[in-house]
This record gives sequence, C-alpha cells and structure tokens, in this order.
Amino acid sequence: MTKKIILITGSSGEIGKSLIQQLSNDNIIIALDITHDDYTSPNIKQITGSILDQNILDKINKKYNLSEIYHLAAVLSAKAQKNPDFSNEVNYNGTINLLELAKTQALKYQNSIKFFFPSSIAVYNVLNQNLNDIINEKDLSENPITEYGKAKLKCEKIGIKKYLKNNVDFRCIRFPGIISASSKPTGGTSDYAPEMIHSAFLNKNYNCFVHNQTILPFMAMPDAISAIINLMNAENNKIKSKVYNVTSFSPSVINFENKIKEFFPNFKLNYDIDLKRQKIVDSWPNFIDKSLAKKEWSFSYIYNFDNLFEDYIIPSLKKYYNHE
Ligand code: SER
Repeated sequence: MTKKIILITGSSGEIGKSLIQQLSNDNIIIALDITHDDYTSPNIKQITGSILDQNILDKINKKYNLSEIYHLAAVLSAKAQKNPDFSNEVNYNGTINLLELAKTQALKYQNSIKFFFPSSIAVYNVLNQNLNDIINEKDLSENPITEYGKAKLKCEKIGIKKYLKNNVDFRCIRFPGIISASSKPTGGTSDYAPEMIHSAFLNKNYNCFVHNQTILPFMAMPDAISAIINLMNAENNKIKSKVYNVTSFSPSVINFENKIKEFFPNFKLNYDIDLKRQKIVDSWPNFIDKSLAKKEWSFSYIYNFDNLFEDYIIPSLKKYYNHE
C-alpha cells in the first residue's frame, strides 16, 4: 500500500513533537516549522521555514499530493497578547494560507483533503458566567478576550463556512490546557500547571502566576494526541459538528500543589501573580462539556487526576530528563 503524505505545521512544537512520532510510522510526513529538528526517521521530510512564506507552500503544493494537513503552528495566548500584529499574522493569516493550500490540493487532485485545526478553550469568555457552569461548544456568549482566542474562533468559523464546501474536510478540537512530560510549554497561559510539575521534578521551587483557587480544564498529552488521531480517523458522516471540546480533569492550583507534594514532599509553591494572565485564565471556563466528542467520535481518555502522575508524568519525566 502506498503511504499517505501528511503535512504537519508547527511540527517542532509541543503537540507537533508528539503527533509526529505517532504518524511517522506508517506515513510520509512533511514537517514544516521555523525551528530545525534532527529527525532519524526516513519517513520525515523536514522543511525549515514559516507558514507565512508563500514560496514554501507553493513548493509543497507542486511536489506533493497531500492526504491530510495538521495545522499546529501558532503563537500561544500569553505571547500573542504581547505582540498582537505578528500573532494575528501567524494565527489567522497563516491558517488561511494553509486552508488555501488544502483547497488548491483538493481541486488539483479532485479529492477531499482532511484538515485538522487545534482550537482552544481560549475561544470562550466566561467572565460574566457562573464559575461552576460546564461550558459546551455553543456557549460562545461574548468575544474572547485574547488575540489568540479571537483568531482561533475566526479560523474555526471560516474553516466551516468557506472551506468545507471546497472539499476541505475541516475537523477541529478546542483543547484545554495540555500537560506534557516530554516537552516544555512556551508562551501559553495554562503553562503554570506543566511548569509547576517540571519544576518539582527538578527540585526547584515554583512561583505561580495565578492564584491558588484558579481552576482550568486540562488533559495529558498522550490523550490529546489520541483525540486528534481518533477524530481524524472517524467516518465523515459521523463528524457532524466539526468543532469539539475535549477534557479530562479540572484541578485547582491547590489540587496540583497537593498532588505534586505526594511525589515531591519538599516542593514549595510561591505566588507572583501576573494580573494580565490571571484575567485571561478567569475568562476561560473552569469546566467544559465533552459529551459531543463522546457522542460523535467516541472521545475517551486514559489519564485522570488520580493516575496521571504515577502512570504518565513521573515515568515520562524520568525519560525526558534522562534520569533512568
Ligand atoms: N493552552 C493554550 C495557552 O495557554 C491555550 O490553548 O495559550
């Protein structure tokens, strides 16, 4: 059987690194990122460059018949707030570039092309809502407060409105905070959780930038990767809604601290609250409803807050920091 050719943008980012490991066993991967990585698999063809560089995208279009695109490249929320023009260029215009590439490929090969778009809880704004509400996909009452969230929401909408009818099989997940033990986050607002965990493992104290009652939904990276793969493998007629929440658990900062201390009793958490990032977190839901993803493509997860550290975080951190 000939291998599928898959384009992954943002291939060196947190999700990209994990996803590429899964997909490169059986497929040819075109890995596009501004950061250079050293890949050993012959199935991975690396292109070092930007999604804003039309020459690169034209070359990919000429050379390959793509089956799927995973468009992961983005500037995350905290970084995007500091540099809105550049971030919108990447987060919105960059996505349009990739959707246009998908459309062109679909036309050229007269075939539908699957397009994965990672959206985020940042599309919501719950500042005027009850904190215990479980937010579903339709609860988009107000504008998101971050540039990142605004761009994600615009891309979701245009993906569905304009590109679905052009044979681009657009599928999207609104991710909660993701906790990875094999990479470190940069530029996000939910980063306090993984930063706290990595610090504890390295015997360092951590200065948390949000207050101790703060709650956000989270999931472990392997479950995020499985969710992407399951959504992309689901039959088209089942994926009616196109945009889905997923989540595994919603701990507070104190819950994280207590859990971490079960494994690292000397860990010390201090607070150095960043009011801007606190406000962003406060505008994102504490709890999100995953029932649509369950119903349409059987979303499930392995790691809950009880088994997360023992079964995923600790063994993976040991590997990552080479302590074994
Ligand atoms: N986790 C991301 C961030 O914090 C949002 O999707 O920016």
